[in-house]
Amino acid sequence: MAQLWGGRFTKETDKLVYNFNASISFDQKFYEQDIRGSKAHVAMLARQGILTAEEKDQIEAGLDGILADVKSGKLEITSEYEDIHSFVEANLIDRIGDAGKKLHTGRSRNDQVALDMKLYVRDEIDETDELVKKLLEALQKIMEENVHTYMPGFTHLQKAQPVTLAHHVGAYFEMFVRDRSRLADIRKRMNTCPLGAGALAGTTYPLDREYTAQLLGFDGPTRNSMDSVSDRDYVIELLAAFSTIMMHMSRFCEEIIMWNSNEYRFVEIDDAYSTGSSIMPQKKNPDIAELVRGKTGRVYGALTSILTTMKGIPLAYNKDMQEDKELTF
Ligand code: ARG
Repeated sequence: MAQLWGGRFTKETDKLVYNFNASISFDQKFYEQDIRGSKAHVAMLARQGILTAEEKDQIEAGLDGILADVKSGKLEITSEYEDIHSFVEANLIDRIGDAGKKLHTGRSRNDQVALDMKLYVRDEIDETDELVKKLLEALQKIMEENVHTYMPGFTHLQKAQPVTLAHHVGAYFEMFVRDRSRLADIRKRMNTCPLGAGALAGTTYPLDREYTAQLLGFDGPTRNSMDSVSDRDYVIELLAAFSTIMMHMSRFCEEIIMWNSNEYRFVEIDDAYSTGSSIMPQKKNPDIAELVRGKTGRVYGALTSILTTMKGIPLAYNKDMQEDKELTF
């Protein structure tokens, strides 16, 4: 497969090198964001007179077709392309011919991938926020039903003062409220559009960065082009916020595990949410709570990993940054 950047090369890429370098196996996850970003870019290029209205319509229809076909399963994303950007561009050229080659005008994969990642992270923040909101609703219901359910309050795992279950669960309610506000903070801080930064220092095309930013729901364009293509702070912040959410869930699960034990007998986990033992039929295990507690480690691992990846990277884009994808996904 000829690469996007193959022009000056006289030798085929070594197969091992190709596979090691390729990101399509995972970055195909944001094909929708990639196409959304491209459509905004093309709308802007046409508005600036860099593309004709006809070219814009052709490209848009082509991109919509690719999106629909990937969604329906008619078009498969295969490993013959290096990354999702190459896949979309090659398919577009297949569909509409030469006009497709103009899609990437005034753009580099560096600002493109920075955009895709921001769009993906923003969507992920919104989805996670919705889930945490549902969790809060569930906790609120437990609180409302248990205003008069008395239980021991503990310090040092020793019975200290009487409290109610509503009071106890309310502590978790507060934690998850803070988690939602952390997500909102990140969303606000990251919500600037990197398109137009090009590879690192912009382009000579007269792009309208305000317009693309507006089309994509950003508060405005990013200010520094080198930062635009090499900033992954928002990924770190996301994984830090996710780590905190998981830490809260893990604490909650730890209590469920203890409360469900023979020694406490505070709760009994519903059959639908517990598992049994093949050798000890008397047992009912809190596997699900344990797994939530266990999976917390992975999220911490992702945070540590991205922090470590980023700490030695000089400006601007470096391929190390491709590692942000799998950690985030
Ligand atoms: N797959 C790459 C990534 O995720 C896209 C950017 C490629 N840019 C480059 N200069 N090689 O980071």
